Amino acid sequence: MAKKKNTGQRNFFRFMAVIGVVVIGGLIYSFLGAAPPLPKTANHSGPPAPGECLRCHVENIDQAPIMPHRPMGTCTTCHKPPA
Ligand code: HEC
Ligand code: HEC
Repeated sequence: MAKKKNTGQRNFFRFMAVIGVVVIGGLIYSFLGAAPPLPKTANHSGPPAPGECLRCHVENIDQAPIMPHRPMGTCTTCHKPPA
């Protein structure tokens, strides 16, 4: 059967696919974990809605650090409020 000849090749590609999934998953996981949490300040209590976050962190109001990435949905998925 012609199928049997390709077993080694197919296993190679399976192996490469597993490596790919693990690497991409690891990158996503470490990116999510890299976000600094919200500081415990009056500015961040609530926490404020994403529109408010952007107002300060794009326009540099009160010396707020400029957001170093593009706006991504709900800020608090990654920037967790302090416990
Ligand atoms: C009224 C303005 C204002 C609003 C609204 C605001 N911030 Fe900030 N943010 C600041 C200022 C000022 C600082 C820097 C000084 C400080 O720590 O308070 C800061 C600091 C930060 C930091 C840096 C923390 C660190 O440890 O480096 C992050 C992250 C952050 N804000 C995210 C957010 C997110 C997400 C929101 C919305 C949920 C938000 N901010 C809303 C003014 C604001
Ligand atoms: C998918 C996760 C994710 C989301 C959603 C997200 N961020 Fe971030 N943010 C990060 C990561 C990771 C960093 C650290 C990047 C770095 O240090 O280069 C960061 C850094 C920041 C900083 C800089 C903090 C400092 O100390 O200089 C600000 C400000 C910030 N984000 C604001 C926001 C705001 C506002 C929103 C919502 C519009 C938001 N982020 C949504 C992941 C996220």
